[in-house]
Amino acid sequence: MSIQIGDKPGNGFDNPLGLLSDCHRRIERFLGNLQQVADQAEGGALTDDQRHTLEISLRYFRKAVPRHTQDEEASLFPRMRRIVNDEIKSALNQIQALEADHQRAAELHAVVDKIGSRWLEKGGISAEEVVRMKVALGELEGLYSNHIALEDHEVFPLAGRELPADQIEAIGREMAKRRGLSYEDPLRCRTRREGKDGNAA
Ligand SMILES: [Fe+2]
Ligand SMILES: [Fe+2]
Repeated sequence: MSIQIGDKPGNGFDNPLGLLSDCHRRIERFLGNLQQVADQAEGGALTDDQRHTLEISLRYFRKAVPRHTQDEEASLFPRMRRIVNDEIKSALNQIQALEADHQRAAELHAVVDKIGSRWLEKGGISAEEVVRMKVALGELEGLYSNHIALEDHEVFPLAGRELPADQIEAIGREMAKRRGLSYEDPLRCRTRREGKDGNAA
């Protein structure tokens, strides 16, 4: 199995919108890794590689995705809501839909995490659990594909055009603080242990 875990350095906290898009690439990659493990092992015994992939991917979604959601819901979207112009006004409905997606994604991740954790603990899961895990992963794939496209191609570029530089900087500073890192941290949104535990943005 060829599973991609490592990461190229991306944007820094001084480009928070670029950093958020970098994090989308990680979401896509870790989701693909989970689907690969589920398809290949089908609930049975895991190889060392599959076990490692399952562990770090579950941990990524457990730890990093809630921070990414906070970056958007607590740092980015409220600043966009405070800007009054027609373009932002028409984007607000989309932002509301994005927040609903976050909620649904959290529910689906909880299903995957519960089944995946049991798989790691017991060494195997039932056929019914494999189906439930795959269904949840499939729904996540569909949800993220629309959600990420909307954020990467519409919401983030709009924010980049409309938010003043000091507000963009404030978002980056909040993102760094959320991760216990400095704004100037050369490791950017990654942590020293990202390669081991997917504990990234
Ligand atoms: Fe989002
Ligand atoms: Fe996002």
